[in-house]
Amino acid sequence: MSYQTLQQWLEQEEQTNGLPSELTRLVLSVADVCREISYEVSKGALAGVLGVAGTENVQGEEQKKLDVISNELMMKAVLGSGVVAACASEEMDHCVPAQAGERRPYLICFDPLDGSSNIDINVSIGTIFSILPNPHEDAASPTDDDFLQPGNRQVCAGYVIYGPQTQMVFTVGRGVVMFTLNPDDNTYLLTSPNVQVPAQAKEFAINCSNMRHWEAPVKRYIDELLAGKTGVRGKDYNMRWIAAMVAEVHRILCRGGIFMYPRDNRDPSKPGKLRLMYEANPMSWLMEQAGARATNGHESILNIRPEKLHQRVAVFLGAAEEVERVTSYHTAD
Ligand code: F6P
Ligand code: MN
Repeated sequence: MSYQTLQQWLEQEEQTNGLPSELTRLVLSVADVCREISYEVSKGALAGVLGVAGTENVQGEEQKKLDVISNELMMKAVLGSGVVAACASEEMDHCVPAQAGERRPYLICFDPLDGSSNIDINVSIGTIFSILPNPHEDAASPTDDDFLQPGNRQVCAGYVIYGPQTQMVFTVGRGVVMFTLNPDDNTYLLTSPNVQVPAQAKEFAINCSNMRHWEAPVKRYIDELLAGKTGVRGKDYNMRWIAAMVAEVHRILCRGGIFMYPRDNRDPSKPGKLRLMYEANPMSWLMEQAGARATNGHESILNIRPEKLHQRVAVFLGAAEEVERVTSYHTAD
């Protein structure tokens, strides 16, 4: 069986659906650099890159955390693509503009290594990205404010997961495609051309250690799932928690389910844990493109007008019927 390569798929999109060649260039830059990140991740302790940044290894060289290395690699790659006017990252307080010069069409935000608590224990992690249009018509240097566009303005979003396999999953607004990195020749091959998430679910993901802090609608929804066959839902549910959003989303795209990181009562100023711009928005668009849903309990995440680059948001995403049910419990309150 022969698979289409990422490059072939992008060229076909250019020809049949008018995908801009600049976007092809950026997606290929992200794919290439994530291959490097995947390689660094795979070396693990052997590369001396695990642990805390700022410490020194036995040779007295500075050790860098994998998330710092990934951030540097991503930044260099996307700014070097020639089509990005500025990038923003979980690892940096403010956006970094490209060198002054000509106008470049895109902004990109990323979480260079999501699920970093999994790094040291050899469990799946990944790089999440969200590409937005550059609102400037001229060569002006973008600022943080230029990134504050709702998720429904994204032109491409996705992630690369580093697990037993390295896979790149993204959307340009015409469904969700999944490519697998072939370790034999380092090419990304199209292994799932049209990912769909079933509307019903039998698996849920939430960090239950926070249960005592949850708000009433979330407590009610989870209580009903836990009641299983004997409760109002009339069926048993299974539970998973990988503690890396990228891996939870990947599982849902592969076999369905719902993932939640609600806001809770600990710190009312924090509306959730996950970040809107480079975690919730790209994952929410993937969900909607795969026939699933994503809300903050009240409205579609993609409609939220961001106010800050590192804004946090409550997240309920996955199987449409489940997300709609837990959202209705919030709005009924
Ligand atoms: O980026 C934040 C993150 O690591 C997500 O990837 C993950 O879903 C979540 O935090 C894990 O949270 P907790 O520490 O509560 O398990
Ligand atoms: Mn993250």
